[in-house]
Amino acid sequence: MSDPKASESFDSSDYRRALGGFGTGVALVAARDAEGVAHGMIINSLTSVSLNPPIMLWCLARGSSVFDIYTQAPAFSLNILRSDDHEVARAYSRRGADRILPLDQVCTMETGAPVLTAAVASLDCRTRLRQEMGDHEVIYGDVVAYRGDPGVDALGFFRGRFVTLKSGA
Ligand SMILES: Cc1cc2nc3c(=O)[nH]c(=O)nc-3n(C[C@H](O)[C@H](O)[C@H](O)COP(=O)(O)O)c2cc1C
Repeated sequence: MSDPKASESFDSSDYRRALGGFGTGVALVAARDAEGVAHGMIINSLTSVSLNPPIMLWCLARGSSVFDIYTQAPAFSLNILRSDDHEVARAYSRRGADRILPLDQVCTMETGAPVLTAAVASLDCRTRLRQEMGDHEVIYGDVVAYRGDPGVDALGFFRGRFVTLKSGA
């Protein structure tokens, strides 16, 4: 266990390791670029901010190669990955890669944002607000449509590894 440290002396790898103790699900955020091409990216920063009205947020690294796509999109979808989506998780978290979603893996709901056809749950969001926060941009969306499949095991991320989250249903 590392000692508490003042933030200016944080070792970034050690800090990330400490945060890795917070196990999460894994989601693919999807949005269209200005030409309408569907892009996807792996995230675990999503949070349900409000239930009524339904508002979600996620955080995008300001240094990301795809920063412009997601900060200019009027809508996006958040898709919670299934436990057998390891390959999707690897492909769509590859640094600098063009992470275009194949047409046969996406559909649309209300906003026109690309939505994964097979996910544990998908939330179709209209972008509400963006906030610059440290080295990330916080992106809020109003959920205008959703669907969920509660019986399916989900992909998790814990201590730097993908794990299975059992549904128990
Ligand atoms: C489990 C997991 C969670 C991630 N969560 C986020 C996230 O919340 N926000 C983010 O900007 N990048 C996140 N990433 C990183 C992106 O998926 C991707 O690796 C990164 O965008 C690649 O760098 P680039 O955008 O500069 O090409 C995560 C990666 C993994 C494997």
